[in-house]
Amino acid sequence: MLFRIPQVLSPEDLTQISDVLAIAEFVDGKLTAGWHAKAVKNNQQLKSVLPEAKDLKRKVRSALLRNPLFQAAVRPRTIHTLLFSRYDTGMSYGRHTDNAMMGGHDFHRSDVSFTLFLNDPSEYEGGELVIEGADAEQAYKLEAGMAIAYPSSSLHRVEPVTSGSRMVAVGWVQSLVRQPDKREILFDLETSRRSLFAQHGKSDEFDLISKSLSNLLRMWAD
Ligand code: NI
Repeated sequence: MLFRIPQVLSPEDLTQISDVLAIAEFVDGKLTAGWHAKAVKNNQQLKSVLPEAKDLKRKVRSALLRNPLFQAAVRPRTIHTLLFSRYDTGMSYGRHTDNAMMGGHDFHRSDVSFTLFLNDPSEYEGGELVIEGADAEQAYKLEAGMAIAYPSSSLHRVEPVTSGSRMVAVGWVQSLVRQPDKREILFDLETSRRSLFAQHGKSDEFDLISKSLSNLLRMWAD
């Protein structure tokens, strides 16, 4: 499943992040691409050794980890890789799939990829994130502060930016639950029990769904 996650960042967070990114040093995005993705990746990335990059990563990571929808949809074990990307006019990222394992000597699996939009869609033309499904593809260009989370197993691309600059944070998560279909079952149960609770409080049905949810998570988490 794909999830749009609204209001990951507040307007204040966005202003603070944009102010830092406006003056920070960026490098060629090819430096962090796999050998096959290098051929189609054309963007700029915040130089990750900068102290300000570490601060921004901390801010984005903690905003995502305290977001209830992100928690329920993704079940993050760790957000192991996080990059700030800028696509100036003429830049794009062609069709590719993300590496299954990331992180140098200390490998993590990428189960879920996300893009967190950092500037308003009115500030640039083009730059849609296009994710391919089995049958059709879907384009996303979300408002600032919103994120899209999708299975890392998909083929996807970023369309050329034809004017302005597109600013995003992109990241990869190792989930507690490796398989998307299992995460979907847990998400549906979580949604159902919340809705039941809102209607009838802590009923017998709520208790049984909570028990099933816990027991499935116990069986499936790794
Ligand atoms: Ni990608």
